[in-house]
Amino acid sequence: MFNKIFLSSDHAGFELKEKVKSFLIDNNFVYEDLGCSSLEPVDYPDFAKLLSKKIKDKNNSTGILFCGTGIGISMAANRFQHIRAALCTSVEMASKSRKHNDANVLALGGRILEDKLALEIVKEFLQTDFEAGRHSLRVDKI
Ligand code: RB5
Repeated sequence: MFNKIFLSSDHAGFELKEKVKSFLIDNNFVYEDLGCSSLEPVDYPDFAKLLSKKIKDKNNSTGILFCGTGIGISMAANRFQHIRAALCTSVEMASKSRKHNDANVLALGGRILEDKLALEIVKEFLQTDFEAGRHSLRVDKI
């Protein structure tokens, strides 16, 4: 289980970030919102970098990144060696990203996902553990 959840988005992911934040508050998760804080255009690599640094500094933390598609912000986060960001569009992907890939960051597309599905993906990601075993060697090779 993660002990802290960092949230970060660009303008295209802002609205979904706010909805996920409400879900985290309602369910008593410990979180920190790193921005952005409005629909004013910003550059997603800046927000991926901000969150990636926080994950490095805080043991056993996770992050959820949001942009329009989830593609750009996950690409940017995955440039950092300690980040394994998974762009998920289904509950199954969220589950496997944790069980098999030990993903430590979830990336979502605010212009792609329905809110209900996005929240189901978040829930699955947060409650699923890495299975280790045969998957550990593969993850170590990344
Ligand atoms: C912003 O318009 C959009 O390009 C960005 O949010 C993201 O979808 C990039 O991958």
